[in-house]
Amino acid sequence: MNTDNRRVVLAAAALAASLLLPGLSHSAEQGSDLYPTGYVFLDADDRPLPFQDRTEIVAMLRTAEIVEQRQMSRGVAGNLRVLLDHDGVRFKAVVRLIDVNEREETGSLRMVVKYRDSHIFELAAYELSELLGIGRVPPTARRGAAGFDGTIQIWMEGTTPEDIMLAEGRLQPPDRTSWWHQKSIMWVFDALIANTDRNQGNLLIDGDWNLWFIDHTRAFRETSVLFDSAHLDHCERRFWEVLQTTPDEAIRERLGPYLTGRELDSLLLRRGKLVKHFAKRIKKHGEDAVLFDLVPDSR
Ligand SMILES: Nc1ncnc2c1ncn2[C@@H]1O[C@H](COP(=O)(O)OP(=O)(O)O)[C@@H](O)[C@H]1O
Ligand SMILES: [Mg+2]
Repeated sequence: MNTDNRRVVLAAAALAASLLLPGLSHSAEQGSDLYPTGYVFLDADDRPLPFQDRTEIVAMLRTAEIVEQRQMSRGVAGNLRVLLDHDGVRFKAVVRLIDVNEREETGSLRMVVKYRDSHIFELAAYELSELLGIGRVPPTARRGAAGFDGTIQIWMEGTTPEDIMLAEGRLQPPDRTSWWHQKSIMWVFDALIANTDRNQGNLLIDGDWNLWFIDHTRAFRETSVLFDSAHLDHCERRFWEVLQTTPDEAIRERLGPYLTGRELDSLLLRRGKLVKHFAKRIKKHGEDAVLFDLVPDSR
């Protein structure tokens, strides 16, 4: 299916979904205004899933039967693409199985650093993105396959990774303000979670030019350093509010099942640093020069 046809199908699916299932059109925005707008989760035949609520999707990811699984051709981590079946509703998902936990010596000082590349961080990223109200990581749950522990994430039908858009000459967002606003949210989120792997294959773009963040298996480093701080000039106003006001305890409680104590401590240290960083910038440059309001795509 070419892109134009696909957009028409998706738009029709969104319309059908909102007519058939009252309230559905708002379901992808259930958490906050920062959620991607208009996205409808689809089944394996591009029809709207009868469950759109994220908690329901997570429940389905946990329980629906895995009827097919195969190694993914794209990517290096050995993920599986699976087909799930719940009472005849079939939908796709990706299962991440990677779980590397090593200590290695680096540099001339031969310092020992910890290296953890784990499927569990995808779930931690999803939970944090929900807790903070940005809703940018696709619904994810704990579930293994092929005899291994893992995490499972809904397959985002109708999205394309940024690197493919670029290679195909299609990376031309119609609303550049909305585009850069969403990127700014991503940069703050990545600094918060110490993500060392935000390449363009790990950013999905949907038919409405919403950005979705995936592949966080190399995040949640044990460091208080804010990576990529050159990108931390601006912050979305509501994101700034939750960054300041979400209690440490709420973060510990939500991510405690997935992160070690040190990973949690580091996350909270980075949160504190981010808050200081933006408070300083606001004091120096004024609120209007630093904060912005995410505008939905204006088309
Ligand atoms: N939930 C998803 N929905 C749609 N495509 C996905 C999803 N997860 C992964 N992909 C696709 O698979 C590719 C590889 O997955 P990723 O999690 O990035 O693994 P790797 O660690 O191998 O890079 C991504 O670049 C993207 O094209
Ligand atoms: Mg990747």
